[in-house]
Amino acid sequence: MKKARILVTGGTGYIGSHTAVELINAGYPVVIIDNLSNSNRDVLDGIEAITGVRPPFVEGDCTDFDTLKKLFADYPDIKGIINFAASKAVGESVKKPLLYYRNNLNTLINLLDLMAPNGVRGIVFSSSCTVYGEPDQNPVTEATPRKNATSPYGNTKKISEDIICDTVAAGAPFKAILLRYFNPVGAHPSALIGELPNGVPQNLIPYLTQTAMGVRPMLSVFGNDYPTPDGTCIRDFINVVDLAKAHVVAVERLVEDKCLEPVEVFNLGTGRGVSVLELINTFEEATGVKVPHQFAPRREGDITQVWADPTRANTVLGWNADTPLADTMVSAWRWQQRLREKGIM
Ligand code: WQD
Repeated sequence: MKKARILVTGGTGYIGSHTAVELINAGYPVVIIDNLSNSNRDVLDGIEAITGVRPPFVEGDCTDFDTLKKLFADYPDIKGIINFAASKAVGESVKKPLLYYRNNLNTLINLLDLMAPNGVRGIVFSSSCTVYGEPDQNPVTEATPRKNATSPYGNTKKISEDIICDTVAAGAPFKAILLRYFNPVGAHPSALIGELPNGVPQNLIPYLTQTAMGVRPMLSVFGNDYPTPDGTCIRDFINVVDLAKAHVVAVERLVEDKCLEPVEVFNLGTGRGVSVLELINTFEEATGVKVPHQFAPRREGDITQVWADPTRANTVLGWNADTPLADTMVSAWRWQQRLREKGIM
């Protein structure tokens, strides 16, 4: 039986492109919309090279209602949405809060407004462990209380979750799944797609691989005086392909009406906390490449430690993040090497 078409907003981005690959591999027709503000069109070449399918692509801004309305008219077989389209740099959000609130919230509200009139059965929302703030204890479960966000970026994730819950509670004829990511890292094993942030990377792994490649002279480790075993922050680094596969399971659950509640929440992590220094050591051992690094002052807004209890996703979704961290580090390095071969970086 023909599978429902899935709309992937932000689908030329890092997690969006990896998810588009897994959706296509699972037999779902996909349509991607992206404004290319933090990605580029040739990601579609990578998706096609991996899957043999070039998904329909609409260059457009999801904050524009009429653009989205036309997309649903052009693709009336869309039955599920995975919403990645959002600005996501924690530091930038502190400097430009209105850009983040306007982009991230208007995008979501437009999508929710268009779902019922177009017969869309469900939406998967790209949320984040940032909604937990600095948890009182780790690992965190979905029942761990959310805390005040430490950045406008994190606040848009919290508010978005509330907007979805309120809309569904008001009787909207669709369901939703909130996926709270921990720290997505790595690249597709083919090295044909990966993380390619514009400008100076904010996140750890792209900065680390660019330093290992010599694009950057030195990786600064922000703080080694935290109350952790080695003094550096602890995170739950999850392989991006494992993360993408969880989205396929989630959207299938929605379009096939398997959800047990109108809104379901899942932590997507490995369940293992890894420190920044441990990550650097894992990279160096797995690739044989040294990463010049130095300790630097703490970064404003960073939390000390957070890692997931992924039991609910493991048992209810039947999904596990089981790629070894060393393999993930190798995938990140192979992607960086591909960027160098292509003369990009
Ligand atoms: C991880 C650790 C840094 C860079 C955020 C969002 C999350 C998600 C991922 C978007 C921290 C340290 C980093 C560097 C460093 N959002 N670090 N030197 O802040 O945990 O999570 O990005 O995808 O929702 O909250 O990720 O990779 O920026 O930092 O020492 O050059 O690495 O201090 O301890 P973060 P990150």
